[in-house]
Amino acid sequence: MTNPTPANGRPFAERVATRLLYPTAHPRTSVLRAAVADKVVLVTGASHGIGKAVAREMAAAGAIVLLVARSLEDLEAVAAQITEAGGIAHVYHADLTDMEATDELGRDLLDVFGHVDVVINNAGRSIRRPVDQSYDRFHDFTRTIDVNYLGPVRLLLTLLPSMRERRSGHIVNVSSWGLRSRRRRAGRRTPRPRRPSTHGCGRSRPRSPRTTSPPPRSTCPSCTPA
Ligand SMILES: NC(=O)c1ccc[n+]([C@@H]2O[C@H](COP(=O)([O-])OP(=O)(O)OC[C@H]3O[C@@H](n4cnc5c(N)ncnc54)[C@H](OP(=O)(O)O)[C@@H]3O)[C@@H](O)[C@H]2O)c1
Repeated sequence: MTNPTPANGRPFAERVATRLLYPTAHPRTSVLRAAVADKVVLVTGASHGIGKAVAREMAAAGAIVLLVARSLEDLEAVAAQITEAGGIAHVYHADLTDMEATDELGRDLLDVFGHVDVVINNAGRSIRRPVDQSYDRFHDFTRTIDVNYLGPVRLLLTLLPSMRERRSGHIVNVSSWGLRSRRRRAGRRTPRPRRPSTHGCGRSRPRSPRTTSPPPRSTCPSCTPA
């Protein structure tokens, strides 16, 4: 039997809806293994949180995981846990808001591994402050856009030509559940800034490589549907 979905503080109706709408959100180990074993899987924001958990799960399923984030020590700790468990992980220290460094990271990865099979764009931050408390915080928006949108776009522009040439590649964009909810009617509630996402970027691409946006297991109040 597979592990039951942890409730994670989410309402029952939301969990049922997730199960129905996204039946592949919790794939069986054998299915995951068939999909990623021996594949080169890049996980951004792999030092903490969702990225760390995803990286460990991918490595346990046989992927060669490339861990990217700014905190080198934390990345090395994640890599050590993966290696101890019998997996393969490589650490890449990078700040995705530095566009030159991000481009260089992509080129280095192609030099070393020849290609990247799966890119999981997970590194990111959320603005958890309502807009009416953000009037003097424009920097929150520029920082968020840099790491959530421009960094991943920079990285993908470097990696996509190789995916296209190989006619193979899978891009996963992690974002907030709120982006999937219906737009609220104007005036119903003060709008909260949402994560600028790579969804738009994903939507505008031709069919190959694939792009998916799994539902995050959200614990962030600003990210759960109203
Ligand atoms: N947790 C939630 O409830 C929730 C809900 C909706 C959406 N999300 C989205 O899911 C993703 C992961 O969330 P999380 O809760 O796991 O976040 P987290 O625990 O704060 O982890 C964020 C990760 O991103 C990395 N990161 C941040 N800025 C970076 C930069 N400039 N360059 C490279 N790496 C950077 C961080 O590593 P370093 O600090 O070491 O660089 C860290 O590994 C985010 O994109 C978030 O917006 C989360």
